[in-house]
Amino acid sequence: MERENWTSRLGFILAASGSAIGLGNIWRFPFITGTNGGAIFILIYLAAILFIGYPILVSEMSLGRITQKNPIGAFKKMAPDTAWPLVGALGVLSGFVILSYYSVVAGWGMSYIFKSLSFTSKSNFPAIFSAHISSLTEPILWHGIFMFLTIAVIGAGVVNGIQKLVKILMPILFAIIFLLIIRSVTLEGAAAGLSFYLKPNFSAISFQTFTDAISQAFFTLSLGMGAMITYGSYLSKKESINESAAYVLVFDTAVALLAGFAIFPAVFAFGLDPASGPGLTFITLPAVFTQMPFGTFFSLIFFLLLTIAALTSSISMLEVVVAFLVDEYNWNRKKASYLMGFFIFLVGIPPLLGYSSFSNFSFLGMDVLDTYDWFSNNIFLPTGGILTSIFVGHIWGSKNAIKEANLNSRFQIGNIYSLLLKYIVPAAVLLIMLLNIYQTF
Ligand code: PHE
Ligand code: NA
Repeated sequence: MERENWTSRLGFILAASGSAIGLGNIWRFPFITGTNGGAIFILIYLAAILFIGYPILVSEMSLGRITQKNPIGAFKKMAPDTAWPLVGALGVLSGFVILSYYSVVAGWGMSYIFKSLSFTSKSNFPAIFSAHISSLTEPILWHGIFMFLTIAVIGAGVVNGIQKLVKILMPILFAIIFLLIIRSVTLEGAAAGLSFYLKPNFSAISFQTFTDAISQAFFTLSLGMGAMITYGSYLSKKESINESAAYVLVFDTAVALLAGFAIFPAVFAFGLDPASGPGLTFITLPAVFTQMPFGTFFSLIFFLLLTIAALTSSISMLEVVVAFLVDEYNWNRKKASYLMGFFIFLVGIPPLLGYSSFSNFSFLGMDVLDTYDWFSNNIFLPTGGILTSIFVGHIWGSKNAIKEANLNSRFQIGNIYSLLLKYIVPAAVLLIMLLNIYQTF
């Protein structure tokens, strides 16, 4: 069977941006920025995006397009009879693990669309959130619904599923973000939030700032697990990788920064704590919404935004797993989607139970979900990224990758990309990863 191709460059850019823009931008970026001192974190993060993120993004897309394969197949085709396909296997494994807890968090977000209707300024949000996540039926139900939506899209195919969905949802996503920002920055008292967000406080820098910035760069651009290899494998030779990757990077960064613009001024305007961590989205924000005019409406569309962003990302994780089975074992796409989606649903049960039956679990003080998140972001994705950059830089060869990426591009990459990819990216990410592991244990 002929491999499906995105039908236009816009289709690819929206799909890849949809993968990139997700919980990482709207849930993870604001709370990580909040706990890392605001503006100074953003500066380091932007450097990581540009000097580490962009080279790997281009490499993954190029590797995908030249091989026309899923991550395991791509490494196999380029380096048969070697251990390199294991890098692809690590990616498929990461897809399993990340999607499983990602869907749990997305499920919380979905339930909050409906809960928004009953929120008032008297609601006790910490209690509402902990009651929600520590109950059983509701989170399982929403996790199941979210996984089912993900499965249905991937089962429908690359063009009829993924591309169709992102063409409808991405414009809605951008519209909602703009609406939220206008609301937030026009609140009285917003200025304090803007200054926290925009004025770097150099005393807030620590080693943690760097590890958090780099792991956030991987997560937010969907790197290190082959999602961009897989999406690149459906890209036609007529399209430019340099340019597409630049669009994805700009959109993803814009949405993260805009999410911060929407959130911090509002948090400060109501005297709340920007460093409240993962609960920022589910505890602090609903409180903020109930205090503003038309709060119910803004709360509802905020959680709708979160759900849309999560869905356009979760489909790219499942696609990695499904493309592998379809390419390598000739599985039927629908069967692969439903079966693997169901397994991933099951893998998500332990993190989900981490707030009830498994609440005794603790790994370095983290609950199950945070443990999944920690391993994915601090070990799996960086390891995948290091090995992918070494592979593309030295085994496939940066010259060949550059040729593929420059094809039909209005701007060309060359020596700087080569230098970054071959030496700087692997060395820097390895160093930070090892120091982080050493420090954690
Ligand atoms: N980039 C997504 C986000 O920011 C998460 C993701 C990671 C998606 C890895 C695919 C692969 O939410
Ligand atoms: Na992202």
